[in-house]
Amino acid sequence: MVKNTSTSVVTIERFIIEQEREHPHATGALSNILADLAVASKMIANKVRLAGLADVLGAEGSQNVQGETQQKLDVISNDIIYKAMDHGGRLCAMASEEMEGIIPIPDQFKKGNYVLLFDPLDGSSNIDVNVPVGTIFSVLRRVTPAGGDGTLDDLLQPGYKQVAAGYVVYGSSTMFVYTTGQGAHGFTLDPSIGEFLLSHPHIRTPDKGRYLSVNEAYEQHWEENVRALIRRYRGMDGRREAMNVRYIGSLVADFHRNLLGGGLFAYPANRKSPTGKLRLLYECNPLAWICEQAGGAAIDGQRRILEVQPTQLHQRSPYFVGSKHDVEIAAEMLATA
Ligand code: AHG
Ligand code: MN
Ligand code: MN
Repeated sequence: MVKNTSTSVVTIERFIIEQEREHPHATGALSNILADLAVASKMIANKVRLAGLADVLGAEGSQNVQGETQQKLDVISNDIIYKAMDHGGRLCAMASEEMEGIIPIPDQFKKGNYVLLFDPLDGSSNIDVNVPVGTIFSVLRRVTPAGGDGTLDDLLQPGYKQVAAGYVVYGSSTMFVYTTGQGAHGFTLDPSIGEFLLSHPHIRTPDKGRYLSVNEAYEQHWEENVRALIRRYRGMDGRREAMNVRYIGSLVADFHRNLLGGGLFAYPANRKSPTGKLRLLYECNPLAWICEQAGGAAIDGQRRILEVQPTQLHQRSPYFVGSKHDVEIAAEMLATA
């Protein structure tokens, strides 16, 4: 396994290839998908960096399929990923948080054996206040016969079937974190050479978290068991020392901090949003797998998120992800819901 030492500089391309070598039967298709996503994310990073200057700031006025106002950078990021991924011959369909239905691969291009699901710009309402945003992606192997267009059956698979998943956080530095099931690894963009360099090999998240990330404005709409759970994390029932509360409002950024420092991100169901807000396929599943690979866990309140069988592309799910011990507390306290 590649190790990050002071004497070796490992680019993301080299790391992906070295991991692929451990699978003698690999075709290289998955490696190419990851490499293309790394390129797309560098392009998005450039746009995000210039957001305060360029004429891309502010709401475009259109709404996405969930009725949320789209920022211009949402649309731009969606386009960048689509154009980076449509012609490689490795995908047979895509789906994006910003697009209503399946995104087909254009007729003139070869259809591959994988599908890609993505949230092109997570936390986009934070762009105009210069707060970190991100990209999240999930790759699945198709279940329909090779050669043709991908279908909903290929996209609506439970998270444990993912073959690659990751996120990019556009923060004080740009980081690309991914897994193919051989651990979770992080790469930091060196802007002077335009390369992602291995900076966080084999990420491990602490078993017990320091940080609690939840939007407490919804407390008035939570069920009593959720209220009791959050009180417990905050040390108010005397059964646990208080966690520090940190909530950015960009899932990727909140998740990333908690992954490295230990913590629990919660977006519970509430009476106004009975299935929560976050999208199972574009947000919950990819981050759940990364977290599990780092030694953490993720549930929807009752079940392991990765075992939920999706029925709709834009399905939402309650979400509790992070340090193992803290997710276990949630599972125990919400079991009777
Ligand atoms: P997106 O920008 O992709 O629509 O996602 C926004 C999400 C997520 O990033 C964040 O954690 C959550 O919305 C915040 O929601 P609340 O404002 O309801 O807390
Ligand atoms: Mn999002
Ligand atoms: Mn988004």
